[in-house]
Amino acid sequence: MNPGGVGFANGGSLVKEVVYDRETILTRVGELAREIEGVYSAEDRLLLVGVLKGAFIFLSDLARALRIPAQIDFISVSSYGDGQVSSGRVRIEQHPRMPVEGRNVLLVEDIVDSGITLDQVVSLLLEWGAATVETCALLHKRIASPDHEPRFVGFDAPNVFLVGYGLDHAEDFRHLPYIASL
Ligand code: PRP
Repeated sequence: MNPGGVGFANGGSLVKEVVYDRETILTRVGELAREIEGVYSAEDRLLLVGVLKGAFIFLSDLARALRIPAQIDFISVSSYGDGQVSSGRVRIEQHPRMPVEGRNVLLVEDIVDSGITLDQVVSLLLEWGAATVETCALLHKRIASPDHEPRFVGFDAPNVFLVGYGLDHAEDFRHLPYIASL
């Protein structure tokens, strides 16, 4: 066993190269938290909605970096199946458990690729009566221009298949503490 080591991360499946190491990610997550605190105050009763599964690690680090009160919920959507190419459609698998009506929602996404997930989920949150909806995306490939551009972006990411820190390929690699290319 060589847990966590590049090249041995997933039972022999190899990652090609570390693109963002853990320290780089955590530094940027702290900066994003400061940016978010510049926009929201305690009175806004911020509701963080993480997009499962990919955003679960990013959301947990971001929430702990925030110095304003926030509540947390999740929405589960699926667009890619087990392949590397977007199917072009988003399926809602689990709605947020809390009512979003009247809330200031910050949607927390791991990556904007085609932008389809972001656009569809933001539209849904607005349909469900959220007072405001902004998005914080850790990674943005800048290959699409979503109707609802994320207000907070961690990194402009290279257009390669990325895994780790929540991102998967066929459900593997999510547990890696860094982001790597395949
Ligand atoms: C991935 C990722 C984003 C979405 C981005 O989710 O986590 O939510 O795709 O792609 P898009 O901009 O082309 O819509 P995925 O559907 O693979 O599910 P997962 O989060 O459970 O891995």
